[in-house]
Amino acid sequence: HAEITGAVFTSHVPAIGAALDHEKTEEPYWRPLFDGYEYSKAWERENLPDVIFLVYNDHASSFDLSLIPTFVLGTGASFPTADEGYGPRPVPGVEGDPDLAAHIAHSLIRDDFDLTLANELTVDHGLTVPLSLMFGDVEKWPCRVIPFHVNVVQYPVPSGARCFRLGQALRKAVESYDRPLKVQVWGTGGMSHQLQGPRAGLINREWDNAFLDRLIADPAGLAEVPHLEYVEEAGSEGIELVMWLIARGALSDVDGSGAVEVKHRFYHVPASNTAVGHLILENHPRAQEPAEGVN
Ligand code: DHB
Ligand code: FE
Repeated sequence: HAEITGAVFTSHVPAIGAALDHEKTEEPYWRPLFDGYEYSKAWERENLPDVIFLVYNDHASSFDLSLIPTFVLGTGASFPTADEGYGPRPVPGVEGDPDLAAHIAHSLIRDDFDLTLANELTVDHGLTVPLSLMFGDVEKWPCRVIPFHVNVVQYPVPSGARCFRLGQALRKAVESYDRPLKVQVWGTGGMSHQLQGPRAGLINREWDNAFLDRLIADPAGLAEVPHLEYVEEAGSEGIELVMWLIARGALSDVDGSGAVEVKHRFYHVPASNTAVGHLILENHPRAQEPAEGVN
């Protein structure tokens, strides 16, 4: 059966994509940021999955105020790069996995998560910047990617607790797929940032680092944090962090436990208006269990 081998968490600041696309990575402003992903690129090469289930939010590229679905599963075969106003980023489009996505749709909807299914979708910086950070400049992304959009832009947005439970249900869905695939789940967005209003530019290092600590050690408790705390402490766009709880939920057993190994942790301020946070967690205990039926 398929298994979830690890989770990657990272901010998805669009200026990071622009820095890569315009060859600015060696500039003093950007060098420390990209240094923080050197280990990650090597780890990703060594631990290349068959499929990435990539949790992100669209930023008025495919969904705007005309259509506001809470959770969107990309069930199509391919997803082109969105034009966010300056032409599409010069990165490859994404190849999906319609068969695994259909299986996940059945499993999650049967578990009462009423998803929207998208056979056609263009993907914006929320999805492409994390891929660029982890794979660098490539002709083709080296594995399949299932996009999963969460509405964190227009209220009401889903709670951390709902996202965490969705992640747990996702684990069940993946583990009940009868092909021997390695699947990573990525959670993107955050950390603290506010792009608008009198508090624009807000950064909260202390809160962000406590979030990282709890994401590792107490995800079920962290999932109980209400929206208002994200907005007050991490800024209006800090609410993107609820998406990380989907990826963390996918590493957890139903009771919220489940030991993980921290492979990498990085925090850097600033990139554009945002505090960049990044974690790589491996799902060792489960991954090392002998396959069912063996012995
Ligand atoms: C910025 C960060 C984001 O997450 C985003 O979606 C747009 C802009 C920023 O820091 O500029
Ligand atoms: Fe964003």
